[in-house]
Amino acid sequence: MYKAPRGTADILPKDQPYWRYVEGKAVQICQLCGYQRIDTPVFEDARLFVRSIGDETDIVKKEMYTFEDRSGANMTLRPEGTAAVCRAYLEHGMHNLPQPVKLYYISPIFRYERPQAGRYRQHHQFGYEAIGDLDPALDAEIIDMAWQFYTSLGLQGFYLKLNSIGCPKCRPKYIEELRRHYTPYRGQLCRDCQIRLVKNPLRLLDCKQDSCQPAANSAPHSVDYLCNECSDHFNRLQRYLDLLEIPFQVTHRLVRGFDYYTKTVFEIQPEEEGAQSALGGGGRYDGLIEELGGRPTPAIGFAAGIERVILNIKKQTIAAPLISPPDVFVAYVGQEAKEKALKLVAQLRKRGIGTTAPFGDKSLRSQLRQANALGASQTLIIGEEEMQTDTVLLRDMMKGEQRREALESVLNLLRKGQPPSP
Ligand code: HAM
Repeated sequence: MYKAPRGTADILPKDQPYWRYVEGKAVQICQLCGYQRIDTPVFEDARLFVRSIGDETDIVKKEMYTFEDRSGANMTLRPEGTAAVCRAYLEHGMHNLPQPVKLYYISPIFRYERPQAGRYRQHHQFGYEAIGDLDPALDAEIIDMAWQFYTSLGLQGFYLKLNSIGCPKCRPKYIEELRRHYTPYRGQLCRDCQIRLVKNPLRLLDCKQDSCQPAANSAPHSVDYLCNECSDHFNRLQRYLDLLEIPFQVTHRLVRGFDYYTKTVFEIQPEEEGAQSALGGGGRYDGLIEELGGRPTPAIGFAAGIERVILNIKKQTIAAPLISPPDVFVAYVGQEAKEKALKLVAQLRKRGIGTTAPFGDKSLRSQLRQANALGASQTLIIGEEEMQTDTVLLRDMMKGEQRREALESVLNLLRKGQPPSP
């Protein structure tokens, strides 16, 4: 038997209400805030992601699904959304539009990770980006939208971690200090961190291995090394968050896993924090558009992991609105009645009345059981007598009552959204 690939999941009908609920709130908040939808291809030139995310990051080194297509070009299944949105911004000349350009997306993301609860090889992100302005008020808007998104879903107990990791002007000095601090600990560090110390020191702070905690906990803080511009940006952002009454915790070890970040980085954590628990994260990437060949263009964005949001919705027993079943079920007895049923179903659907029929040769009893299980409010039954008299039996499934009606009048009786009671 074939199975879904490891780390992927089918989203079954019973889970669809959660997905529709979360996606509905995502779209609602973006429309409310003037963000427009963008959809980019599932795969892109591999170099786009290497260039954007950074060739020393875990994502590029270990997690990308990269393949050679039949023309020999290297393609990568999207391991995150930001790089593709920036590529589209440049490709379609969006720098000529009034800035900032505000875009959102809901899309599958692929990372070859070790699967566990809340960590998958295919997951889905709701993300949004504001490209073209440096104002910390924009950082506050992006964070506020995330906050409102989780709040509107009914989630409780989540909190905001915030940090600033500086810019290319001030970060080198901090990196130097970080290296100096870590060097005496080198022998105690895990293998990955020994490499990070040489190649990507900022990521040292992110390590969860026990042996690396003493060095990480006592490490210097990036906020103490910010240049005037970054420091002013961070202070103003904190003031704006206070103004919006969004609580935050400045978290010195928050650095995030992409090289494109500058200044602001943040994550939303659920109450019970675990290694793989972030509900979402984002930050500023003021150098990325330029890195991809555009003019210097500051930008900031955020993405939430939909699977993790749903895990938390379920954990907090929040009910997602049900997706309503078709109102009408058409049952029949015999071949001739089936033809009449086929036509009736089509006529009802044309009038916008949700209608379903079993279309097999089951007994009437089993058809009625199916109608019950589907939750149809009305069942129309065409049996032998109804065939002879050109009528149908109209059965109210809740009350269990039924009456006979002329076929013609049934079409008029059943109106979209208001089935008649007998
Ligand atoms: P990220 O933190 O890598 O950021 O991913 C965003 C969110 O996606 C995470 O906080 C988490 O909820 C979810 N997520 C990530 N990996 C997995 C996984 N393997 N399984 C399940 N859920 C996962 C980004 O991707 C950035 N592009 C966000 C951003 C937008 N920054 C600026 N703009």
